[in-house]
Amino acid sequence: MNIFLTGSTGFLGGKLIQNLMKDTDHHVYLLVRNLGKARQLVESFSEENQKRIHILEGDITSPNCGITEETFNQLKGKIDCFYHSAALVKFDVELSDELFEINYTGTLNTLELAKELAVKKFFYISTAYTVGKKSHGVEELYPLDAEYHNPYEASKVKSEHLVFSYGNQMDVSIFRPAIIVGDSKTGEADSEFTLYGFMRALDIFKRRMMRKSDANKDEKYRVIANQEGTSNFVPVDYVADILSLAVTKAEPHTIYNITNPNPPTNYEIMKMFKEALQFEQLDLINSQGDYELSEEEKQLNGMVDIFSVYLAGNVSFRDENTQRLIEGTGVKHLNLPPQTVQMIINAYFTH
Ligand SMILES: NC(=O)c1ccc[n+]([C@@H]2O[C@H](COP(=O)([O-])OP(=O)(O)OC[C@H]3O[C@@H](n4cnc5c(N)ncnc54)[C@H](OP(=O)(O)O)[C@@H]3O)[C@@H](O)[C@H]2O)c1
Repeated sequence: MNIFLTGSTGFLGGKLIQNLMKDTDHHVYLLVRNLGKARQLVESFSEENQKRIHILEGDITSPNCGITEETFNQLKGKIDCFYHSAALVKFDVELSDELFEINYTGTLNTLELAKELAVKKFFYISTAYTVGKKSHGVEELYPLDAEYHNPYEASKVKSEHLVFSYGNQMDVSIFRPAIIVGDSKTGEADSEFTLYGFMRALDIFKRRMMRKSDANKDEKYRVIANQEGTSNFVPVDYVADILSLAVTKAEPHTIYNITNPNPPTNYEIMKMFKEALQFEQLDLINSQGDYELSEEEKQLNGMVDIFSVYLAGNVSFRDENTQRLIEGTGVKHLNLPPQTVQMIINAYFTH
């Protein structure tokens, strides 16, 4: 098959392309805006496999994603599947314009390109957090006028509606991973965002506290979070395995939540951070509480502020469509034991 992919130089895209190349004879067409990164990616494959990887320079914010007319004419009518994974994965309110430009206008441009190329199947990588402020995630579109935590979520909800509106032009399916974390076998992760942004903040805070000469070694530093709330981690290899099945098994006009049926609680995760960082002073305090934060705690909570909405809630997700998709394949429904989560967290701090 000929497969078009955006976002291949990213965390998830990098894993997905490995899967799409392994034991297949697919040709992949990668739309990239950074040729240096793309070259590095290509060089990570054997010489034989490199022949099946085609780099297209472009940018999803440009009409036709910036590909040349010549490339367009070469690809027209030849692409079987189109994976759209490129996005800006940041939660900051001040990035609202950029988030809508890349995530929404970018999706519109990829859909238009796919339509003009006469692509048969379009797979949009969204996020389980289009659930917004609701506490139960379903495998259906959420209303555009529901409440969302940040412009990232809002841009992805609007894009999901847009993707479904192209359902009469080609087969469209939406895949919604929860919080993507490192590989379940190696812990490896090429990410700076979501969990990795949070861990980086904890690491920086610990270093700051260690440098303070008057630091009180018994002082607790509390992060505000719902202790019984859960953080829905999904390993990148699980997400990529499910996405790879889309080529042959995705149903049109269907949404797939790629979520963890038994996610760890925030309390359990904080214990894992403490162990990995060897920072016993780290603690959690319930969001609904009577407390006063120290100056250091205010600093710490300020550093992880953009994640606070995810630490405060407790969302559960239905994933029956995904369970049906993996039925009869080698991919097992996710079971992520605490030891694996700890290994993934440790892998970040050891590197
Ligand atoms: N990470 C998570 O926890 C998570 C969870 C749920 C859903 N998702 C979704 O999964 C998808 C992949 O996420 P990720 O974690 O792999 O993100 P990532 O590591 O930040 O990668 C983003 C990719 O998008 C590309 N990109 C961004 N803007 C572009 C533009 N204007 N033109 C062309 N390419 C552009 C980036 O290219 P450069 O390399 O040039 O920057 C990169 O390849 C996204 O759609 C995201 O919303 C992620």
